[in-house]
Amino acid sequence: MGENAWAYISTGTADELTLRSNREALERLRLQGRVLTEMSGAQTRLELLGDAYEYPVLLAPAAYHRLLHPEGEVATALGASAMRAGMIVSTQASVPVEEIARRATGPLWFQLYVQHDRAFTKSLVQRAANAGYRALVLTVDVPVSLRNREQRAGFRLPPGVAAVNLRGMVPPPPPRAEPHESEVFRGLLDGAPTWKDIAWLRSISPLPLLLKGIMSPADALRAVDEGVDGIIVSNHGGRALDTAPAAIEALPLIAEAVAGRVPLLMDGGIRRGTDVVKALALGARAVLIGRPYLHGLAVAGPLGVAHVLKILRTELEIAMALTGCATLRDITPEVIWR
Ligand code: FNR
Repeated sequence: MGENAWAYISTGTADELTLRSNREALERLRLQGRVLTEMSGAQTRLELLGDAYEYPVLLAPAAYHRLLHPEGEVATALGASAMRAGMIVSTQASVPVEEIARRATGPLWFQLYVQHDRAFTKSLVQRAANAGYRALVLTVDVPVSLRNREQRAGFRLPPGVAAVNLRGMVPPPPPRAEPHESEVFRGLLDGAPTWKDIAWLRSISPLPLLLKGIMSPADALRAVDEGVDGIIVSNHGGRALDTAPAAIEALPLIAEAVAGRVPLLMDGGIRRGTDVVKALALGARAVLIGRPYLHGLAVAGPLGVAHVLKILRTELEIAMALTGCATLRDITPEVIWR
């Protein structure tokens, strides 16, 4: 991929401490190997929100796939479908949600950024539901953020790549702040969603609702109280609050608070099958991957995405065999070496 796209894909916020810690924390964890386990009939199937999945890896929502491949999200969806993996399509997708749904044969979820224009937000949710998306993922962790490395690189969307699903929206008013006033509090945060929007979203959408970007047990409990159907423990791949802990560090605390009332998913730094095992051992039902499949998409389009999924699935099976886990249910906290 070109330098411009690389600046967008690879960066995290500020000093990228959280971006790095996602990997470092996963690398610090050790797995307890087990031998001579009966593995006949071993498999990786799971049920999530009423649907069956063959293995616990989904594609995380990411904006602007056409930065990486001319067919953008359609290419990604073809790769995911070939490997029967779930894919979460971003609000900032660079292909219309309906077109992605027409071409995909695997399950799609829709990721929502609540827009300043709530009527438009509602119509977007309804478009996704009408197009057959299976779940709504509300991302809550980046009302504002600043990626300095991307800024320094002078990243710009190339001509022809845009958030096409947001066309027709009433543009947000220009920031009202006077030069001596706060640009953040009086401009960028105007119209950002709050807990009040959760009940509203549930009232306008027939789809199961998940919150993505929860890192605090208190927020997780509030989300369960608000009636959400699932939680994605995530620090946005290090692109939200810098100096936040790794997602894998937050996961067991949130799992303890939620106590199985809703399924937990997790993302941030998942690169190997052993990482998937670690996340499942610490309370996730499934994981999402972000940058790995974006790299696959840039290298080889649908085939590249499928290949990344294939590698990860195979590695997961090998890690399960070597830790004596014949099914996902066998992946308990005992798998982590202490
Ligand atoms: C993202 N992420 C993201 N999340 C979201 O909810 N909506 C979005 O549009 C995007 N866009 C986006 C673009 C790019 C380039 C990246 C790298 C990430 C966050 C994404 O869903 C996920 O949380 C992280 O990518 C997971 O971390 P890893 O696997 O990239 O380490």
